[in-house]
Amino acid sequence: MTDEELEAKVKALSFWSGKNSMTIEDLATIQPGLARIMPEVGARTWKLYYAAKEQNWPMAKFQYKEIKGLMELGAFMRPKHEEALNQYMAENWKALEGPIEAKDFEGFKKAFEEAIDMANAYHELKEKPYIRWKLPDVPPPDMDLSPRPSAKK
Ligand code: HEM
Repeated sequence: MTDEELEAKVKALSFWSGKNSMTIEDLATIQPGLARIMPEVGARTWKLYYAAKEQNWPMAKFQYKEIKGLMELGAFMRPKHEEALNQYMAENWKALEGPIEAKDFEGFKKAFEEAIDMANAYHELKEKPYIRWKLPDVPPPDMDLSPRPSAKK
C-alpha cells in the first residue's frame, strides 16, 4: 500500500464518540481556535492580576504559566496568528516574569498594564478593534486568591 492509499483509508475511517460518528478530519476541525482559547486567557489574566495583588505569588506564577500554554496552543491551532502571538509572548508577556519571581507588585502592575495595552493593540492589528479586554474592578468571585499558609512561597 502506498502512503497516499494509506492516507485515503485513514481519512475514510470514522470513529464513534458515544454520541456521533467522526472522521479524523472532523476531530481536527473541532479543536479550539482563538475564539475559544482567548476567553480563557481573559479569565486567567483576571485571576493573575488579583493573585499578584494579594501577594499570592504561587498562584500568580501558576496563572502566568497557564496563559503561556494557552497562547502556545493558540499559535499551534491558528498558524496565521503564530508570529504575532510569539512576538507578544517574547516582548510583552515575558516582562511579567521578573516581577513575579521578585514578588514585586508595583513592578508587576506596570508590566501588566503595558501587556494589556499591547494585547488590545494586537486586537486592533488583527482587525478586531471592537475587542478591548479590560481588567474587572473586583477579584474573580469563583476563587479564593488569598495566599494559602501551607503553600510554598
Ligand atoms: C493577555 C493578553 C490577551 C488577552 C487578555 C486577550 C483577550 C481576548 C478575549 C477575552 C477575546 C475574546 C472576546 C470575545 O469573543 O468575547 C479575544 C479575542 C481575540 N484575540 Fe486576544 N487577548 C490577548 C492577547 C492577544 C494577542 C497577543 C493576540 C494576537 C494575535 C490576540 C488575538 C485575538 C484574536 C484574533 C481574537 C478573536 C478570536 C476570534 O473570535 O476569532 N489576542 N482576546
